[in-house]
Amino acid sequence: MRGKAKVKKYLARQKEKYQKLEAEKKKEFDQERLINPYSDTRILNQPKNPQKPIKKILAGIDIGVGELLLAKELGNIDLIISHHPHGQALASLDDVMQLQAEVLAQYGVPINVAEGLLKPRISEVSRLISPANHNRVVDAAKLLGFGFVCIHTPADNLVADFLDKKIKKAQPEYISDVLKLLKEISEYKEAIKIGVGPRLFAGDEENRCGQIAITEITGGTEGSPKIYKKMAQAGIGTIIGMHMSEEHKKEAEAAHINVIVAGHMSSDSIGMNLFLNQLAKQSIKIIPCAGLIRR
Ligand SMILES: [Fe+2]
Repeated sequence: MRGKAKVKKYLARQKEKYQKLEAEKKKEFDQERLINPYSDTRILNQPKNPQKPIKKILAGIDIGVGELLLAKELGNIDLIISHHPHGQALASLDDVMQLQAEVLAQYGVPINVAEGLLKPRISEVSRLISPANHNRVVDAAKLLGFGFVCIHTPADNLVADFLDKKIKKAQPEYISDVLKLLKEISEYKEAIKIGVGPRLFAGDEENRCGQIAITEITGGTEGSPKIYKKMAQAGIGTIIGMHMSEEHKKEAEAAHINVIVAGHMSSDSIGMNLFLNQLAKQSIKIIPCAGLIRR
């Protein structure tokens, strides 16, 4: 979403910050941050035998202890991939939210406004996730000896990019055109079958889209509810998101922004499929579970 150059710059900045730290603080610093720009994406547990080639992967949107036991039952699973983060990746989910400010800036929201509104929300999210039982599933993976990784923001970036390109190519004029376009995508087609297809949360199918923004697909979790007024001022007419809370929906509506909620598991599946397809090309068998619509 930001491009390679910005990611490189971000990593260089982390390194600079690390080097300036006092020895005591350096000990606490998460070294992974120097090479991995996505705090919510990690190797959570090494497999029993890290040298063993990966032939079969169990992949899901939400991996719980249940799915780990399922993997044991299925047998011969070499690696388990969760989309939503666990362990340390969940504890630092708030870190990736910085990306939202950069994406908003690409759509014309001044970076100072985007950052100013996001900052208190990021610290709120960090407090909200603090009481979670972060390592519960990681602990189970350790006991069972499963290799366990989670891939969150990179997969969400893939789906955001995928939707962005589709929208730019089709240039839809009305909200109904956007919905039609989304409903042609296979993951959303499958979602429609179980009653969770793309739907309009705010606005009207007869409304014109104006500028369409893919601002609520990636960047950890929901941003600030105060952003919608600023988005409208920046010229955004329609948002495509994965999910949206009532509070955010009301604020978007008040700012006359149309909101299309494409669907949560289905949108996450698009991103994960784009990634997993690359693994499948290397003759790795992917077994989908826990909400992953595989195509
Ligand atoms: Fe998600």
